[in-house]
Amino acid sequence: MSESQVVPEGIDATQMSHARAYNYVLGGDVNYEIDRVGAGQVMALAPDLPVLGKAQRNFLLRVAEMCARQGIKQFLDIGAGIPTSPSVHDTVKAVHPDARVVYSDSDPIVLIHNNALMDADGVACIQADVRDPDGFFANPQVRALVNLDEPALVIFAGLFHLITDEEDPAGLVANYRDRLAPGSHLLISQFCTDTSDPGAKAKLEEISKYSAAPMCFRLKSEIERFFDGLEVLPPGVVNVQDWWSDEETPETMLQVVAGVGRKV
Ligand SMILES: C[S@@+](CC[C@H](N)C(=O)[O-])C[C@H]1O[C@@H](n2cnc3c(N)ncnc32)[C@H](O)[C@@H]1O
Repeated sequence: MSESQVVPEGIDATQMSHARAYNYVLGGDVNYEIDRVGAGQVMALAPDLPVLGKAQRNFLLRVAEMCARQGIKQFLDIGAGIPTSPSVHDTVKAVHPDARVVYSDSDPIVLIHNNALMDADGVACIQADVRDPDGFFANPQVRALVNLDEPALVIFAGLFHLITDEEDPAGLVANYRDRLAPGSHLLISQFCTDTSDPGAKAKLEEISKYSAAPMCFRLKSEIERFFDGLEVLPPGVVNVQDWWSDEETPETMLQVVAGVGRKV
């Protein structure tokens, strides 16, 4: 996004945004100087961040496709971020043209860009905060597209390191899980400290200084607890590059762990 363009109403281009900084890390152009400077400082500390971001995108798209092939037709992408290609809806609609996808994010920039791109049937984008599941499920667009008697995939990718322990991410996962039909799946990925290179923890702490919100880097055992009450699919909660064993992705110093749980 060029600075000469008008900043859309409701967007604060003077404060770094996670959605816009992540877009920059992935090579997108929906970002402002403040995001590029912040993301640039983070990438100076962790040059392999783009590799991790792309591995996370690849992981979630392949899980969405796997779930679609198993018959799931509803996809709730929470903390979805600014649209990237390929998208979740293109991926699952290639399997089921009648699949329904709800993208939600707390950052208004996501709504602006998703709405601009959305011409697909059965796709909605809403502004919602993951910490308010009641508000999410009461949203008229969610109610119109989602049938809670049918299984769904809920995607929480790269989101929970932006949710503090006090905000109870495990309780939030349980809240979403309890509303879903059996056979639903929940995908979670987030930065992890103890599967990383020993020097990485200090880097993560340094990185969090650039964050627009407090960042919570967790132990793998803490992230595994988010899957309580779910059947964790093999290979379990592992580094995101290792979830699909047929992929050759470079190892990185920082680690994001990823897992998928099934509601039985
Ligand atoms: C690192 S990006 C991940 C984007 C996408 N899920 C992916 O993996 O490609 C994190 C996203 O979470 C969003 N986010 C942060 N806090 C949130 C909250 N409380 N509720 C909903 N979304 C949130 C940010 O705006 C950002 O778009």
